[in-house]
Amino acid sequence: MITDENMQSKLIPTLNNMGWMAAAIGDPYTRAFIDYAENASLPVMEVGAAYGVAATSVLNNGGRIIVNDLEPHHLHVLYEQTPEPLRENLQLLCGSCIDGIDLEADSVSAILCARVFHFFDSATIATCLARFQHWLEPGGKLFIVADSIFHGMNQDIYPEFLARKAASHATPGRVSLINNPRLEAQEDKEELLQAMPEYFNFIDIETLSSLFNAAGFIVESTDYFSPEYYYDVSLWDGREGIGMVGVKVNHTQNA
Ligand SMILES: C[S@@+](CC[C@H](N)C(=O)[O-])C[C@H]1O[C@@H](n2cnc3c(N)ncnc32)[C@H](O)[C@@H]1O
Repeated sequence: MITDENMQSKLIPTLNNMGWMAAAIGDPYTRAFIDYAENASLPVMEVGAAYGVAATSVLNNGGRIIVNDLEPHHLHVLYEQTPEPLRENLQLLCGSCIDGIDLEADSVSAILCARVFHFFDSATIATCLARFQHWLEPGGKLFIVADSIFHGMNQDIYPEFLARKAASHATPGRVSLINNPRLEAQEDKEELLQAMPEYFNFIDIETLSSLFNAAGFIVESTDYFSPEYYYDVSLWDGREGIGMVGVKVNHTQNA
């Protein structure tokens, strides 16, 4: 069961009820983004960063990073916690990655968007991917991390996902968390529900790959993984997270 004490140790609550930020780097795709950023010729970007889980490592390694989030207080905390000499390499960009911020075309070497897409439906993910593709330099890399279709909260309703997928539903993994069987079994279910948006989109590799390809990315690598930052309510069979790395292959004029 999630208690206040252990929640604080692996996950830090967001200030805008958008779930929790991983308190430490806890997946191979975020680590790959941090490694890639070490040799980037242009700045890199972290989208939906909360307090900047990857940004701190990028800055400590000498990299330049643009950090985006919807919630200005998250970015303020990151700025305050960044040592003064590193602040010149940190650019804060508050607003929605869907329609609230903009970057010049071809202006970043890599983008990490971790644990945000599971709040969006497929059409919104497609909008974001087109924008990320526009902002990345040719050959630039996109790193996505999200909750997968094998997330624990989907365990009891997995057959419903399969049925929606068989019926070619555009967002087969989208479900309401109200009355979710796993959440219902939690003592603190009300508190948990309040800390998250009502709808989740548990993402599968096939659906995300086709969205990548449609937006002009080649999928370089992808897999399910076991997130190091989750508790029992989120766990199932070791595949609760999905990661995908895409390489920009087309130059688009409009995004
Ligand atoms: C679950 S937290 C993930 C934080 C961090 N990326 C991680 O991996 O732990 C989701 C974050 O995405 C941000 N977010 C949600 N929708 C967004 C949007 N449309 N544009 C920018 N950030 C968004 C929220 O404010 C929140 O800080």
